[in-house]
Amino acid sequence: MNKTFFSCICLLASTLYAVGQVHFTLHPDVYGANISESQYGIFFEEINHAADGGLWSEMVSNRSFEDSQNKIENWSSRNATKISLSSKRLMNAAQQQYLHVASPSGGANIVNDGYWGMRLDGQSAYTLTFFARADAAFSTTLTARLIDYNTSEVLLSASKDVKFGKTWMKYTLTIPDGAHITGKARLQLQTTSKKAFDLDVVSLMPAETYKGHGCRKDLAQMLEDLKPRFMRFPGGCYVEGEYANGERNRFEWKKTIGKIEERPGHWNINWHYRSSDAFGFHEMLQLSEDLGAVPLFVVNVGLGHKWYQDIDDLDEFIQEALDAIEYANGATTTTWGAKRAANGHPESFGLKYIEIGDENYNYHAHNNNDQSYQYAERYWKFYQAIKAAYPDIVCIGNVQSWGTDNPSWRNDYPVDLLDEHYYRSPSWFVQNYEKYDTYDRSGPKIYPGEYAVTQNFGTTGNLAAALGEAVYMQGMERNSDIVTMASYAPIFVNENDQKWKPDMIRFDATHSYGTPSYYVQKLMSQKLGTRNITWTEEGNAMQSEEGKSAQRRVYASASREGNKLYVKLVNPNSENFATMLTTQGYTASGIVLTQMTAESDAAENTAENMYRVVPVEKALSACGTNIQLDIPAYSFNVLEMNLTPGESSNDK
Ligand code: AHR
Repeated sequence: MNKTFFSCICLLASTLYAVGQVHFTLHPDVYGANISESQYGIFFEEINHAADGGLWSEMVSNRSFEDSQNKIENWSSRNATKISLSSKRLMNAAQQQYLHVASPSGGANIVNDGYWGMRLDGQSAYTLTFFARADAAFSTTLTARLIDYNTSEVLLSASKDVKFGKTWMKYTLTIPDGAHITGKARLQLQTTSKKAFDLDVVSLMPAETYKGHGCRKDLAQMLEDLKPRFMRFPGGCYVEGEYANGERNRFEWKKTIGKIEERPGHWNINWHYRSSDAFGFHEMLQLSEDLGAVPLFVVNVGLGHKWYQDIDDLDEFIQEALDAIEYANGATTTTWGAKRAANGHPESFGLKYIEIGDENYNYHAHNNNDQSYQYAERYWKFYQAIKAAYPDIVCIGNVQSWGTDNPSWRNDYPVDLLDEHYYRSPSWFVQNYEKYDTYDRSGPKIYPGEYAVTQNFGTTGNLAAALGEAVYMQGMERNSDIVTMASYAPIFVNENDQKWKPDMIRFDATHSYGTPSYYVQKLMSQKLGTRNITWTEEGNAMQSEEGKSAQRRVYASASREGNKLYVKLVNPNSENFATMLTTQGYTASGIVLTQMTAESDAAENTAENMYRVVPVEKALSACGTNIQLDIPAYSFNVLEMNLTPGESSNDK
């Protein structure tokens, strides 16, 4: 470009600023905090059928017939076939019930509904496995059909001659995919003999799963697109369980590894359904690896909802935590490392973080039932044992998670990171853009392990929620020296069983889509940079709008990675703002704007309109030192550009 002409454009742009624009003067060579290598991550919990009926590809629901003791959930029979639950000749100690199938008038015919239907993804063959036995051995032809969920039309089928004997045996049958059929199905199993048999642990898995490790491809891809640096699991309240009918109903990782028929599953009482534990400890570690995320495991400290373990009797819990680390990382010559190898992964999973408890350090009068009972003392026992055996493991402590905006570590025990939780309104998140600016840098690092807008979020999660979270993330990012990790919560919801709302990825058997919050997470994480840069702003003060309370017109964050500059601008307000960006001492080129906006901040994505609020990317023709932009009302904007040092830059 002609130099004089270029100067004129810059001059014109500067003049335009004089009439009341928002002006950001960016200083690409005056650095703020380095961006933490562990920013950002994800938090996976088995909630809302996140795994069973979600991320885990198992198509059969109630596969082990354990979901209810007196009702055969999700199975039905046809053509006079009689089905009943029995526990007389169990396959093993993990299985408490099986299905007895009798068909006095001919072949048996039973149907499983899946999780509100079975997903046919149009690409896969499907592998059926099951265990069966009979009082008297007999041979039969077994036909497995995938039938249309609504019309019962046969979509795919396969048959095999089998012989059921007196002892439990495993059978396998592949249903080939001939027609690239997509949609929602049920599984029908039919025999040709009228002899009775017993059935247990029926599984139907698509042959093609995410990286071949069992996760549903579309959902796992959505996680991969978040570029998670770490993955926290398995909860959440799911870690704690809740006492009922003599059981604590907590997640016990040792019962979730190995062959599926040896996993008892457990009552996911916190979220009101039974977990098959098919997506167990090993699968969670494997998913972390497949996503390129460092594992973060939350352990139980002997506390849960309506139960506690005496603090002087914690050895079993501490050993459970140590064994988990050995399973994940230990040499194959160790007891638990050998089990990991036997389960197909001789290499270490590189578990790096252990969180000691989940939300177990709340601040109110303790009684013996309290899930915060003697937390600090418990924490200390775990910390010492873990650090003695594994000095490199990063230990994360709980702080008060409910009822305060300023949780703190209320004891003198050493801790590597503190897990803060915030479920608040959009305006709370906007107002807390500067929250971490004043945190004591000599204290522990901060990990907001669960945060999300949970008030005024509309029905599925609206744009206002996403913008609030985006502003909050900008504050975390700017303070990345102290806030070194963060994860939104929860991730998933099967739309047929919404126990917690909102969630950033919504799905059923046939579809999946992100809320605006999902796209904020994705863009913040994908376009991150390695170092914050500083800026000054003018014309950016905001008179609070009623109910919104934004203090700024446009909220900013800016970072660099080499010569790449990322600028994120969030406007949670109802007005557009003409905005100027000056890249002090540098010329910007190749500018790409990714923008997510809508006519109203109440806009959201739904199953009927999944892509109403999504980011749109466009190349800008602007270049030079001053970039003129209109920042629309209710918008999230990410600018990416290449920098060339000018005369006054320190990078020359
Ligand atoms: O994310 C949902 C729940 O919120 C988690 O299980 C728990 O840690 C928090 O209370």
